[in-house]
Amino acid sequence: MTRINDLFSVEGKRIVVTGGASGIGYAIAEAMTMNGALVGIVDMSAERMEAAAQRLAQIGRRPELACANLANPDEARASLEGLHRVLGGLDVLFANAGISGGPGFLGADGARVEANRFEAIDPGVLERTLSVNVGSVFHSAQAVVPLMKAAGQGRIVVTSSISASKTELMVGSAYVASKGAVGMLVRQLAHELAGYGILVNAICPGPTATQIAGGRLQDAAMQDVLGRFAPLGRIASPQDIQGVALLLASRAGDYITGTEITVDGGTHLGPVAVPDGRDRVSRGEG
Ligand SMILES: NC(=O)c1ccc[n+]([C@@H]2O[C@H](COP(=O)([O-])OP(=O)(O)OC[C@H]3O[C@@H](n4cnc5c(N)ncnc54)[C@H](O)[C@@H]3O)[C@@H](O)[C@H]2O)c1
Repeated sequence: MTRINDLFSVEGKRIVVTGGASGIGYAIAEAMTMNGALVGIVDMSAERMEAAAQRLAQIGRRPELACANLANPDEARASLEGLHRVLGGLDVLFANAGISGGPGFLGADGARVEANRFEAIDPGVLERTLSVNVGSVFHSAQAVVPLMKAAGQGRIVVTSSISASKTELMVGSAYVASKGAVGMLVRQLAHELAGYGILVNAICPGPTATQIAGGRLQDAAMQDVLGRFAPLGRIASPQDIQGVALLLASRAGDYITGTEITVDGGTHLGPVAVPDGRDRVSRGEG
C-alpha cells in the first residue's frame, strides 16, 4: 500500500511541456509546477511563453523556456537538448504542441457549410497540420529518446485527441488524419522503447476551452453546442486534463505504456438521445 501523496508525486521530476504557453499545455505545466517539478516549456510564441512563466512563478519555481517551431527537426532538437542541459536531465516529455486543421463540415447551427466540404480543403492545410501535429511529436521524440535511453528511463506523454479514433462533424479532416497518425505513433514508440525503460502514452481530450483554432472554443455559443455532444453536459476546461497528466508522470503510471487515456466527458460515446440534445438526468433536471 502507498500513500496517495507518494504515489502521484512529481516532486523534483524534470519535466518539459511543448506548447506549454497556452491551453492544455499550460494546465499541465501548472499541475507539475504546483507539485514541485522542475518544468521547462518549449513554445513558438515567446511572448505567450513569458506571460505563462510569470504566472507559473507565482505558484512555484519559474519554468525554463525555449522558443522553437517544433515542426522543424533542428529546432526541436536544439530546444529539447538545451532544456535537458538546464534541467539536469529529463524524466517526462509532454509532447503537447498542436494546431487546428480547420473547421469541419457542419456549422454550429448543425447545417452543412459548403465552404468547409472535404473536397474544398486546401492541400496546404493538410501539409501544415501534419507537419505540426505529427511532425512536432515525431521530432520531439527523436530529440529526447537518445537522452532517455542514456538515462535508462523516461516518459513521453503525447496530447492526442478523441479525433484519433472517432469521426468528427465540426473538426476538419486534416486534423482527424493528423491525430490518427499520432495515435499510431504512440503505440509504435511504446512497443519499440519499452525495453529501454521508456513509457509512451497519449492523453485524448475532447473539446477543451483553449486558444486553439483562433480561440473559437472560448465562444459561449460554441461551448454550448459542443457541450451537448458530451454526456456529462459540458466541454472540458484545460484543468480537467491535469489529473491524467499527473497519473502518467508519476509512479502511479509505472506500469502503463502504449495506452490512450480519453478525457472527454463521454463525448466518444456519442450524444445523449433526448429530443433537445441534453441529458436531463445527468443535469439533475429530471
Ligand atoms: N482544445 C481542444 O479542444 C483539444 C482537443 C483535443 C486535443 N487537443 C490538442 O491539445 C494540444 C494543445 O492544444 P490547445 O487546445 O491547448 O491549444 P492552444 O492553442 O491553446 O495551445 C497550443 C500551444 O502550442 C503552441 N504551438 C503550436 N504550434 C507549435 C509549433 N509548431 N511549435 C511550438 N509550439 C507550437 C502554441 O503557440 C500554443 O501556445 C494540441 O495537440 C491539440 O491538438 C486540443
